[in-house]
Amino acid sequence: MDYNLIATTTFGIEAITAKELKALGYEDLKVENGKVEFEGDEMDIAIANTWLRTAERVLIKVAEFKAESFEELFNGTVEVDWGSIIPVDGKMHVIGKSVKSKLFSVPDCQSIVKKAVVKSMQRTYNKEIFTEDGPVYKIEVAILKDIVTLTIDTSGEGLHKRGYREHSGQAPLKETLAAAMIYLSKWDYEKQLIDPFCGSGTILIEGAMIAKNIAPGLNRHFVSETWPTMDKETWDQVREGARAAIKNKDIKLIGYDIDSWVLKTARNNIMKAGLSDCIELQRRSFLDFSSSKKEGYIVTNPPYGERIGEKREVEELNRHIAEVKGNMPGWYINVLTAFPNFEKFIRLKADKNRKLYNGRLLCYYYQYFGK
Ligand SMILES: C[S@@+](CC[C@H](N)C(=O)[O-])C[C@H]1O[C@@H](n2cnc3c(N)ncnc32)[C@H](O)[C@@H]1O
Repeated sequence: MDYNLIATTTFGIEAITAKELKALGYEDLKVENGKVEFEGDEMDIAIANTWLRTAERVLIKVAEFKAESFEELFNGTVEVDWGSIIPVDGKMHVIGKSVKSKLFSVPDCQSIVKKAVVKSMQRTYNKEIFTEDGPVYKIEVAILKDIVTLTIDTSGEGLHKRGYREHSGQAPLKETLAAAMIYLSKWDYEKQLIDPFCGSGTILIEGAMIAKNIAPGLNRHFVSETWPTMDKETWDQVREGARAAIKNKDIKLIGYDIDSWVLKTARNNIMKAGLSDCIELQRRSFLDFSSSKKEGYIVTNPPYGERIGEKREVEELNRHIAEVKGNMPGWYINVLTAFPNFEKFIRLKADKNRKLYNGRLLCYYYQYFGK
């Protein structure tokens, strides 16, 4: 079956996800705020879930229509042949959101959509009551400026859950964002990559997985695997292909952090990801940072200093970033931080900067190119 699919992203990541989809061979992409739309069948659902590093989820777009009243919402929803996707025992879980729309009561919208889905299923299956004890179908009703989009989630747990993170540091970076930082850094795998504030090791792990072409979803499961419309062979084929695509690259990534407990966490995560051979960790303060290499890449997420008592320390660390740039001009330095007026404070204008979100926290990604 052909579907309209949506790869959802956090704001600022859309173009990177679109690039990933293009590299996977998808064309006719529609890039909008927080999402990239593309077309595909069951195999493409498996491919997108297994391979996308920067997307949050893969959804099936079931319908899109205008609704300014509950009646219009019901009619637009009941028209859809839900039974073509949801089996007779499917568990229908409806979630919702509404922005700048006449229909603003999300619980009411959810219950109307649920009623309409059930009504449509009654038509298909010629049955009044549904046991809902089968596979899960998370239906979302999203209303933006009176336009309703109905989707079904194919991912289950968000795609940032790669399966390697058992524990995390104090402020772990989302895996999807770490992957985006690596892509944006345009890291040349021949050169060293260092994260001097590595915490639980997310940037290093995502970097090594990108360099070795390890599919981020290879070691986890997705909710759509439980659906009768998705063959087990389809998933087996995609996973087999992903295993065969792994490259045995000779790469070197280094992580430093001042906190030995967090380094232990990083070590566990790296081991779980099977990357101990290419990532080296050491306890070291950034104030003692140095490298004998003329060229390389720093991709990092230093502490922001939100907690009281940290401010001075963080200011000193930030100033030191400018110093390192001065001493190591051949290095590309990429810093994700929520520190206010970072460039002004360190008196070093970035070659590029862009707005990104780490969860709900607004950050900027400052990129200093190597000379
Ligand atoms: C925002 S967290 C980084 C999180 C990391 N990206 C992750 O995914 O877990 C900042 C890290 O900087 C470390 N840190 C604080 N002061 C430091 C210093 N002087 N030198 C090196 N690391 C330091 C903290 O221990 C913390 O792990």
